[in-house]
Amino acid sequence: MRFTRLLNFTKLYRFGKPFATDATVIKPEEKDLKNCEKVNYFDIKVKENKTVLTLNLDYEDRIYGLGETLGGLNKRGKIYKLYATDDPVHSPEKESLYSSHPFVIIDKKFGFFIDYPSEIIFDIGYTKFDEMIITINSKDFDLYIFESKRALEVIREYLRLTGIPYIPPKWAFGYQQCRWSYPDAKTIKNIANNFREKGIPCDAIYMDIDYMKDYKVFTIDENKFPNFPEFVSEMKEKGFNLVPIVDPGVKIEKKYDVYEEGVENNYFCKDEKGEEFVATVWPGFTHFPDFLNPEVRKWWGEKYKLFTDLGIRGFWNDMNEPSIFFVPERLKNYLDKIYELKNKEVGLEFFMIKDKILLLSNNRDDYKSFYHVTPYGKYSNDQLHNLYGYYMAKATVEEGFEKIIPNERYLLLSRSSYSGHHRIATIWMGDNMSWWEHMLVNIRMLMSLNMAGFFYTGADIGGFGANSSPELVVRWMQLGIFSPLYRNHSALGTRNQEPWVFDENIEKILRNTIKLRYALIPYLYSEFFNSINNLKPFISPLFFHFDDKISKEVEDQFMIGNSIMATPIIQPNARGRYVHLPEAKWLYWSASNFKERNMKIYEPGDYYIKAELNEIPIFIKENSLILLNEEEINYVNEKPIKELTVIGFVTGSAEFTYFDDDGETYNFKNGKYVKINIVVKKTENGYNYEIEKDESEDFVSTVERIKFEIYDEKGNKHTQIFEI
Ligand code: GLC
Repeated sequence: MRFTRLLNFTKLYRFGKPFATDATVIKPEEKDLKNCEKVNYFDIKVKENKTVLTLNLDYEDRIYGLGETLGGLNKRGKIYKLYATDDPVHSPEKESLYSSHPFVIIDKKFGFFIDYPSEIIFDIGYTKFDEMIITINSKDFDLYIFESKRALEVIREYLRLTGIPYIPPKWAFGYQQCRWSYPDAKTIKNIANNFREKGIPCDAIYMDIDYMKDYKVFTIDENKFPNFPEFVSEMKEKGFNLVPIVDPGVKIEKKYDVYEEGVENNYFCKDEKGEEFVATVWPGFTHFPDFLNPEVRKWWGEKYKLFTDLGIRGFWNDMNEPSIFFVPERLKNYLDKIYELKNKEVGLEFFMIKDKILLLSNNRDDYKSFYHVTPYGKYSNDQLHNLYGYYMAKATVEEGFEKIIPNERYLLLSRSSYSGHHRIATIWMGDNMSWWEHMLVNIRMLMSLNMAGFFYTGADIGGFGANSSPELVVRWMQLGIFSPLYRNHSALGTRNQEPWVFDENIEKILRNTIKLRYALIPYLYSEFFNSINNLKPFISPLFFHFDDKISKEVEDQFMIGNSIMATPIIQPNARGRYVHLPEAKWLYWSASNFKERNMKIYEPGDYYIKAELNEIPIFIKENSLILLNEEEINYVNEKPIKELTVIGFVTGSAEFTYFDDDGETYNFKNGKYVKINIVVKKTENGYNYEIEKDESEDFVSTVERIKFEIYDEKGNKHTQIFEI
């Protein structure tokens, strides 16, 4: 084992010869590593080809991190298997999801990151209450230990090591509508018209797999989408971004250019015999591009030109664990076994047939049977399994967008990811269900993913699988206004979830909900940038802000930026909920409509608050400010923001930094942005307001007026308007 110190308080322990995953932006050189014998904190044992790290846990230890995983926010009490898996049923006992983020925080002690691209099992106080047992399927890996007792400092250091989070375009903070599927241009146009006619704001409509010709990646079905370029511009004119899905599996079909090019140039993963590996996904029999090969990434990245040339800036890389429905050989063997039983009296064998069919999908043996050709040699997919989604994103971004649309921001969701992915793209949380329980999963994962650097992320609002009730959609859409990615998505064969499909009253509630989200965009966008600048999660648990005992246990409330605490209703038939209000006093806004203020002051404590179906409970922290744009807009970039409303509850002094830029490029890095620093101070006879603008000649703020609406301790409102 070798060792070096990095950054402010990181120690790297290198075991064996790990694969260079590209998770980190800081890459220590071999010559900097010195031999060492011992690792702090962990007891380490090598058993056969596995390495087992054991750590004693104290009764009060709270464990966080692990990015996209099920279980609590506090990860203690469960086993997590980090091995990317397409499992559409996220029930509590499941150990694997689509991504691997092996970053862990032990609050008040330290944090660590295990850079290893295949299976790692974290048994966190499950087998033994007071032990964390980590089993790494190898002897070659990097272990980074972050020696700070403060969770926020550990996260900052992790982000210094793995890179600054990705920043989507501003329109990606608007509402987004998805469905598997809106199968043709006509349907999408109708959906778009509905949004505009009904006055429900929306910025993006997704194109699921049916836009392709026979599910062939990088094709467009001309019958369903005649004159695609014209359709894209028509949508753009109405303020809609189209977001096509891109799947990695390339259909095996003679004369199909992507297939032919791939075969000709050896771009596909090969099996043991050196032949193209065949797996079945949506298009039928497919080959998988070898994204671990830089040449393949270059080839794949350029393909996005098909869309970027038309002005499309939103993408959705799916099925990249990679998901395998089945491998033809394995299915054949299975079917042969069934045929053998055809004329026999079947008893217990029935269960063999029934259960075995599920094992055909995403079978570990299949991942062991195909290979990647990397700059460091040949590896089986199993050995590098967790990198496939990340390397597909690297192809899309580093070899695609950065070359074909340099300096332009893009929305890129991926389903699978690895640590480091967060600096070039993001993920959504995969195929959840229209279950109330999944709203809590959504909230916890928002926080855990933020800790792992995925500041902009979200779940399928309303739930993907299973049918949703109107009430579930309302409550989830209300939770969604605080989700950075605000996308409603649902699966084929399930009940539709667009805002107007239930009844007029539900439509009205959903319209007001989405409008409230749009009103909040100046706050969300500013705080998102503030979070990036401070390397501090945008969505965070209460205990990052407050030190009281109860806050450490709250998993169904969260902070968005520094001023707002969300306390969403996640229970059916509830007309309110219990909330914990830590330390500070709070201004409670029971928001049913962004124009109506229904404000009340709360002292710290625990309360039951009421929230009718149309009401969204919002808490604004004492001595902090939020911003609203009260002008009605249909989509984010429809009109420049002329007036900002500042709402705050100020008993001493409060400050907020408004941020704006063109929302589409990286020019903000060269000073093309505006910041307005707003300070409100309580004085003996009212309030003192300070407004300081920091703008460059190249980017001038559109804001002409700032309206203050400040509440004092008694709940009295003080208003002021300033022309700026
Ligand atoms: C996968 C995706 C889902 C998508 C579906 C069809 O299940 O996770 O979001 O709608 O495939 O493409």
